[in-house]
Amino acid sequence: MNIISSSVCTMKTTTKMYLSVILSTLCIVFYQYQLSKANFVTLQRGDVFGGNNNIVTSDSRNINSIEVKESTKTPSLPPLYVITPTYRRPEQLAEITRLGYTLKHVPNIFWLVIEDATVATPLVTRQLKRIGVPFEHLVAPMPDRFKKRVVKPRGVSNRNRGLAWIRKNASDGVFYFADDDNTYDLEIFDQMRYTKKVSMWPVGLVTKYGLSSPIVRNGTIFGFYDGWIGGRKYPVDMAGFAVNVKFFQSRPKAIMPYHAGYEEDKFLRSLAPLNITEIELLASNCTEILTWHTQTKKNPVASPLDMHKYNGTNLVNLHKLIV
Ligand code: UGA
Ligand code: MN
Repeated sequence: MNIISSSVCTMKTTTKMYLSVILSTLCIVFYQYQLSKANFVTLQRGDVFGGNNNIVTSDSRNINSIEVKESTKTPSLPPLYVITPTYRRPEQLAEITRLGYTLKHVPNIFWLVIEDATVATPLVTRQLKRIGVPFEHLVAPMPDRFKKRVVKPRGVSNRNRGLAWIRKNASDGVFYFADDDNTYDLEIFDQMRYTKKVSMWPVGLVTKYGLSSPIVRNGTIFGFYDGWIGGRKYPVDMAGFAVNVKFFQSRPKAIMPYHAGYEEDKFLRSLAPLNITEIELLASNCTEILTWHTQTKKNPVASPLDMHKYNGTNLVNLHKLIV
């Protein structure tokens, strides 16, 4: 190879190198542009699905609530009322935070957080405001006579308070009892908000069977699968059904009784007349698990802070946040 052809060859190689560098840079820029577009789409969805912009605080009237701003409600969607009983314990704030940020993805939602307490815990109200889901923080203490029982009717006073609120304030849509120890696939909220009377679906992590579900054959319900039947007509978990507001309001006697273990059953029975064939089966005819009764591990109450040792440190403040 002579000098000229070798230098032409070197030039060609250099040009090729430059071209490939330019091409790769262009590819990277294009890829990043696509990524940023994808992020933008996600944010848009987040916005629509209940960002802070569609709520308004109503501090002057009621410090314990945030309402949905009228102008930004999603008009085509029936409202969904979520009733969550809660009570003061080490896990409370963690549970509320976990559930709240799930609910934040759900449009046209109103969250009734009802504490088994005589006074609403300010830390809970503060956290609810921070999460930004439209809410009302109410209280409904368990009556003293039930507190002494070994097996307590947990969350019943709270849910009945929620039902009273629905009777008085709601006019359409659907309500649902979401205990603070559950986990959700967002899909179930999209489905339950169209409930005409009562809808049901499977719940995971319930009893020794690992789930609780209506038994369905050829699209028809003909029984219930649950590790504990206990003579119940509706052996279902609290997390596995939703009720239409108008239907509930047409049953003035419907209420949840203080009967541990029979709360779901007796509440559903109190909605009579309701034919079992009228129950709407969600989660693809009860073939999917979109809800879990997670049941968070119970933690011991924290040991007191040694003030001789730690006074004047951050720990004093931190200890005010925990149980
Ligand atoms: C749940 C239901 O709450 C019962 O009504 C139901 O009978 C039972 O499932 C069932 O399906 O077998 P469980 O999960 O055992 O009971 O109880 P928790 O999760 O401890 O409490 C239920 C809800 O009530 C929670 O949201 C919790 O925060 C609240 N709760 C619990 C209170 O408000 N006060 C209490 O003293 C205990
Ligand atoms: Mn539970």
